[in-house]
Amino acid sequence: MPVRIQYHSYGGPDVMELQPYELVEPAAGDVAVGVVAAAINPIDWKLRQGQLKVMTGRKFPRGMGSDFAGVVRAVGAGVTQFAPGDEVFGITRLKDSGAFAQVTYTSQDFLAQKPAGVSFIDAAAAATPGVLAVLGLTEKAKLRPGQRVLVNGCTGGVGEVVTQLALSLGAEVAGTCSSRNVDRARALGVHHVVAHDTGADPLHELAFDVVFDTAGTLVPRAAMKLLTGAGVYLDINATPGKFLHSFTHPRHKIINCAPSRARMDQVAEALTAHLIHASVTTTVPLSQARELITSLEQGQPSTGRSVITIA
Ligand SMILES: NC(=O)c1ccc[n+]([C@@H]2O[C@H](COP(=O)([O-])OP(=O)(O)OC[C@H]3O[C@@H](n4cnc5c(N)ncnc54)[C@H](OP(=O)(O)O)[C@@H]3O)[C@@H](O)[C@H]2O)c1
Repeated sequence: MPVRIQYHSYGGPDVMELQPYELVEPAAGDVAVGVVAAAINPIDWKLRQGQLKVMTGRKFPRGMGSDFAGVVRAVGAGVTQFAPGDEVFGITRLKDSGAFAQVTYTSQDFLAQKPAGVSFIDAAAAATPGVLAVLGLTEKAKLRPGQRVLVNGCTGGVGEVVTQLALSLGAEVAGTCSSRNVDRARALGVHHVVAHDTGADPLHELAFDVVFDTAGTLVPRAAMKLLTGAGVYLDINATPGKFLHSFTHPRHKIINCAPSRARMDQVAEALTAHLIHASVTTTVPLSQARELITSLEQGQPSTGRSVITIA
């Protein structure tokens, strides 16, 4: 039987188990993928902790992991875009995670063909950051060349890819990160790097067409003050208070990773054209994944994405 990381109740790192699970035929519109690489996102442990149990429900065991790349094993009825043997990358449904597994399942609309020159590891690492960058910058902000973008957390998993896409779209980019990541931000091409841990706050003198808060550390009222008259504040870390703020301030746009065929294809195109590349600094086999997830969850600083490789 194949194995995966799963849990039988919501909770801390201790509830994660590496256990066998039953393979099923993919449902109509779904694809079964033999996973080769799966990238770790903070959302993975937030889901396991039960932070979104209103949406994820009480059915156990539940798999973990959303971003993956691998090879199609089987397709459900009505799947026309993919066939067994295709090399793909994608995102599982939020309600049905399970990418830290030998075989995972998702909708055909949450997948794209993996670009030939891109490794499984790099494709998996770009999935959620890529979708958020495309959705935020091109769809919500309609970013145009010459516009000014602030990426809060510009060297993080999401921030790095948002920064790369904004630069490729011709934006002037400012970015915040900690002092230890300033050189990485400069290497990415960020025009104006601000270390958030030095006490300096030169940002209030600037105005941005887009403030993309990936770190989730900006206070909405302060973020709005950084905007030009028509600027938009993109926020991927929703809280009840931020939702309330966004209802009364339409330029505060809360976005969630919502994969679609078009968005996944745009991520694939950006990868093919080398416009985006998520830095992967740690890879471990599935047998060591629980230890790595635990240390990231407990705040181990990371200078790039962490990926689980699955034979
Ligand atoms: N809505 C969604 O669908 C969605 C999807 C993916 C992720 N998220 C959320 O988005 C957040 C970021 O995800 P991620 O994968 O990019 O995490 P990550 O790789 O841990 O990156 C977070 C970044 O925030 C930076 N940071 C921390 N404190 C900061 C501060 N005070 N000011 C500016 N930057 C600061 C960190 O940089 P330094 O270490 O240099 O400080 C780090 O690079 C997580 O909370 C995650 O749950 C939401």
